[in-house]
Amino acid sequence: MAIKKVMVIGAGQMGSGIAQVCAQSGYEVLLNDVNREALQKGMQNIEKLLTRSVDKERISEQEKSETMNRLNSTTDIQEVKNCDMTIEAIVENMDVKTKVFRQLDEHAPEHAILATNTSSLPITEIAASTNRAEQVIGMHFMNPVPVMKLVEVIRGLQTSDETYGAVADMAKKLSKTSVEVNDYPGFAANRILMPMINEAIFALHEGVASVEDIDTVMKLGMNHPMGPLTLADFIGLDTCLYIMEVLHEGFGDSKYRPCPLLRKYVNAGWHGKKSGRGFYQYS
Ligand code: CAA
Ligand code: NAD
Repeated sequence: MAIKKVMVIGAGQMGSGIAQVCAQSGYEVLLNDVNREALQKGMQNIEKLLTRSVDKERISEQEKSETMNRLNSTTDIQEVKNCDMTIEAIVENMDVKTKVFRQLDEHAPEHAILATNTSSLPITEIAASTNRAEQVIGMHFMNPVPVMKLVEVIRGLQTSDETYGAVADMAKKLSKTSVEVNDYPGFAANRILMPMINEAIFALHEGVASVEDIDTVMKLGMNHPMGPLTLADFIGLDTCLYIMEVLHEGFGDSKYRPCPLLRKYVNAGWHGKKSGRGFYQYS
């Protein structure tokens, strides 16, 4: 069955980006969030980025309005009843995600594929909370979604070949390159990236160098577009901590222990750019 209508659950930085690229690629999109303000902010961000693309003559005014016409928002998850596909992008927490997946399983049409944008949580466990494990899959976009070309497509233990094929196809329609990854903690992207970020935080914690100098080492020394501490702020320090916890618990190896400084910042409510304070101050 062709995918025409997609519900994106979570209108934060990832969900709004996913909704934008889906709508720009011709899909009907319903953006959902429990928080009305977050939903409004997500929709405003999309409009702002599309306006910027018009200003830069990358799309026409008409393409912008066609994209916006394909986008609707709702706080009612039961509206999933007319969708062929869902992409969940809410907080990186297993209990919250499985609660949402149980609701989606109850209200989405039988044929619908339920994807998650989780950064690290086991797809197999998320799938087991539904009665359609063969139609549950990981579709891991990178931040910022409209710019980054990669999507990790992660098969859970029971994900069917049909589901995998439909999602890999969709990634192509979104002009993304997909890679096929098996269900291991952190998948491929965050198993490699997050220990590097965590090590940068340890270097800061141990007084090896300042925030700015650690970032400069990786920017000018390794040609990374952003230093690891800027990148951590950009991703969200809460998300970085959750991912390190998944790696630590999933592999049972102390090399993945989250840096205490990361935990301290998250406990203080310093969640990075989105909260106004992380390793840097934003205002
Ligand atoms: N949303 C949408 N578009 C954005 C954006 C955002 N948040 N931030 C920047 N852009 C766009 C800009 O609009 C700009 O487009 P134009 O051509 O229209 O100007 C373009 O990206 C380049 O931006 P800038 O010139 O302002 O800045 P830059 O050259 O430094 O690029 C960047 C910004 C693309 C974010 C770049 O710094 C970069 O690639 N950083 C690393 C990002 C990265 O590593 N992402 C992966 C994070 S890990 C992850 O996502 C997985 C996970 O599970 C945690
Ligand atoms: P975010 O904090 O920016 O947004 C999360 C949104 O989900 C919020 O608007 C919140 O109101 C909403 N939400 C929470 N519970 C909900 C529920 N039950 N129903 C509907 N909406 C709900 O987070 P984010 O950075 O967009 O991350 C979202 C997901 O994407 C996480 O699983 C994260 O690991 C993953 N991810 C993040 C990045 C990144 O760089 N930030 C990259 C790839 C994947």
